Amino acid sequence: MSELAWRAAGAAATLLAYAGLCVGTFRRESRRAAQTAERAAALAGTGERAPTLVLYGSQTGQAEALAWQTAGWLKAQGEPVRVCSLNEITSPELQSAQRALFVASTYGEGDAPDGASVFDERVMSTAASLPDLRFSVLALGDRQYTHFCGFGRRLDAWLRSTGAKQENECLEADNADTAALDTWRHRIGGQRATSQADDAAIAWRLLAREQLNPSSQGAPLFHVALVPAQGELPEWQAGDLVQLTVPGDPARPRDYSIASIPQDGELQLLVRQERHPDGRLGAASGLLTQTLPVGGSLPMRIRPHTNFRLGDNAQRPLILVGNGSGLAGLRAHLRERARQGRHDNWLLYGERHSQWDRPCHAELARWERDGVLERLELVFSRDQPERRYVQHQLLQASEELMAWLARGAALYVCGSLQGMGSGVDAALRQIAGDAAVAELNAQGRYRRDVY
Ligand SMILES: Cc1cc2nc3c(=O)[nH]c(=O)nc-3n(C[C@H](O)[C@H](O)[C@H](O)COP(=O)(O)OP(=O)(O)OC[C@H]3O[C@@H](n4cnc5c(N)ncnc54)[C@H](O)[C@@H]3O)c2cc1C
Ligand SMILES: Cc1cc2nc3c(=O)[nH]c(=O)nc-3n(C[C@H](O)[C@H](O)[C@H](O)COP(=O)(O)O)c2cc1C
Repeated sequence: MSELAWRAAGAAATLLAYAGLCVGTFRRESRRAAQTAERAAALAGTGERAPTLVLYGSQTGQAEALAWQTAGWLKAQGEPVRVCSLNEITSPELQSAQRALFVASTYGEGDAPDGASVFDERVMSTAASLPDLRFSVLALGDRQYTHFCGFGRRLDAWLRSTGAKQENECLEADNADTAALDTWRHRIGGQRATSQADDAAIAWRLLAREQLNPSSQGAPLFHVALVPAQGELPEWQAGDLVQLTVPGDPARPRDYSIASIPQDGELQLLVRQERHPDGRLGAASGLLTQTLPVGGSLPMRIRPHTNFRLGDNAQRPLILVGNGSGLAGLRAHLRERARQGRHDNWLLYGERHSQWDRPCHAELARWERDGVLERLELVFSRDQPERRYVQHQLLQASEELMAWLARGAALYVCGSLQGMGSGVDAALRQIAGDAAVAELNAQGRYRRDVY
């Protein structure tokens, strides 16, 4: 095809993708507005109480889990509740609500988590008036970051600016700050429950570990395989996380993206060995990659990561983008796709040097040969004098990207947030535009497991 023809095809695909996205939004918003109006009318007629909204803005599921727990406490008191992700709530729904409880985390540099980014862009950017609403905010964060609870604070300030009535001061929880969470439970009137984290953690035995990048100039990357020390392999889905609580540091559990599926018969991880500036091993990665002997055990729990599961996207073509240890989350999806016999997969993966940094290369080559990967692109940042990353490749392949999106593809991004995650997001916005990215997000077609 000539360059001109490619351009024309690309432009047509862009228009098609965008038109598809707009129609989707229009239909969804109209349906929602009608449903809200209907519900409000029905409630007014019956004298029934409008449900308390429990709204969460979450990335890896902690705010979501707390929102469901909060809803459970309210239900136990006989209160009608509706739990919903912030990205799924519309202005009319908020306007017709009487009470809303918000649980929201913060990501990046004080940014909204992905589960609230559409709400941030579309609702919080407007000067709404919510005089009939009573609200409370529970902000989740980590004091190690400069913008502690940045999004939760911004959400609280925006709600106050709408004229809504603040029931309680914004509560800020640093990691698993049990005192703050207890205060929240107390305010809601909930009963203390046994900790889910303790209940769900089981002992995992280290079966094998292998360095995937010997001689690499970067930090060592390991493939780690574990099985339950006793009993059956628990269930999980591609996209889920496993959480390791390091002895001596219970306040800061570490998450790892699961790189295998249960059908593999073992839990596999891809773990980068971290080192502190003084040379000490990272607490969790050191355990997994060095200090725990093969045959030894450690407690971990599986964390459903609904935001990074396939869900409805199982029926769509997949564009998988990542770097470094981020191959873990993408590999689990590819193993599932291979099992399902779905071959409309495009993997775009970045590492440093082609000579040493080729994790899982035999498997990727096999998938390419067998057609499980319709498209495979590897980008090595340091093979040439100028740095080249996956986002550069995405920009170069912008027409194909738009064509895949026009086919209804979903985009999954896994790996480092700084550099890769933010670079891919910027490239996507440059290629498709902010409105289309917001729409992809709203449709659940843009998912990220970035850290
Ligand atoms: C959703 C999610 C998924 C993840 N998936 C993966 C994955 O698949 N693979 C993977 O390898 N990692 C993954 N991670 C990262 C992982 O959770 C850990 O953060 C990582 O392994 C480092 O933990 P550590 O205990 O080894 O290091 P830590 O001991 O926590 O140290 C981490 C770094 O922070 C610095 N540091 C820590 N404490 C201090 C201090 N007091 N002062 C100065 N500097 C300090 C150190 O320089 C060190 O390099 C994921 C993270 C998230 C949030
Ligand atoms: C990559 C990354 C970036 C983060 N950035 C911030 C931040 O800027 N400010 C903050 O207070 N917390 C930050 N956090 C901490 C999260 O907000 C906190 O862990 C929260 O409990 C996560 O909840 P969630 O799983 O619902 O998203 C960050 C966490 C990660 C992994």
